[in-house]
Amino acid sequence: MKIIIANDYDEVSRLAYGVIKNTVLANPNAVLGLATGSSPVGIYKLMAEDCARGEVSYKNVKTVNLDEYVGLPKDHEQSYKRFMQDNLFNRIDILPENTHLPDGTASDLQAECSRYDALVASLKPDVQLLGIGRNGHIAFNEPGTPFDSNTHTITLEESTRVANAKYFSSLNEVPRKAITLGIKGIMSAKRLLLVANGTEKSDAIARALGGPVDESCPASILQKHGDVVVVLDKNAASKLKF
Ligand code: F6R
Repeated sequence: MKIIIANDYDEVSRLAYGVIKNTVLANPNAVLGLATGSSPVGIYKLMAEDCARGEVSYKNVKTVNLDEYVGLPKDHEQSYKRFMQDNLFNRIDILPENTHLPDGTASDLQAECSRYDALVASLKPDVQLLGIGRNGHIAFNEPGTPFDSNTHTITLEESTRVANAKYFSSLNEVPRKAITLGIKGIMSAKRLLLVANGTEKSDAIARALGGPVDESCPASILQKHGDVVVVLDKNAASKLKF
């Protein structure tokens, strides 16, 4: 595991973007596993700027996202599909048909989970970008999720809903369920790229990187992957013991 400690959010974004840029320059047909939330926004901005300058093209790149709320219309301003369109897909030269998210509006969610697992297995992401929840979740795999889980629907923990409430007009509006790539699917990526910022992530980072590998901290499974790059700001790294 390679752990890089940066000064601030901008430097975290720049260093993490470097990993993505090198992946796409080395393989223009790369498959990128993407995440939503505040952590990747700076990375997506750099991707868009570089693409506009003609330095990197995403014409042959495919993407798979980690998760989606259940029940929000696709064009809802807080759906993860909309987040990805606004923050990245509409700002780079990627083909819409090459971008994939789980469908939280599917009438048969079980079938949707199976479809998504098969899709991710066939695409085999070259790099999977991850944020981490304060409770150690990755994607929406909340504490206690089995490490061998496939794509599944979950009930969001109250702490996760509270953390995400800042994007909605009230806590009540935050969906209670989501569909998420399972830990098995995440671990199938060739490389994992975890980014975290702020003291509110320091406990989760200390447990994930320095604690026991245990389902009570889903991100601790990263210790078992052979190719992980972690980019942290000083605050997120502040409780690491090495
Ligand atoms: C989002 C996702 C979540 C977030 C995590 C951190 O697709 O999978 O696991 O990465 O909740 O969110 P932020 O970056 O907003 O702190």
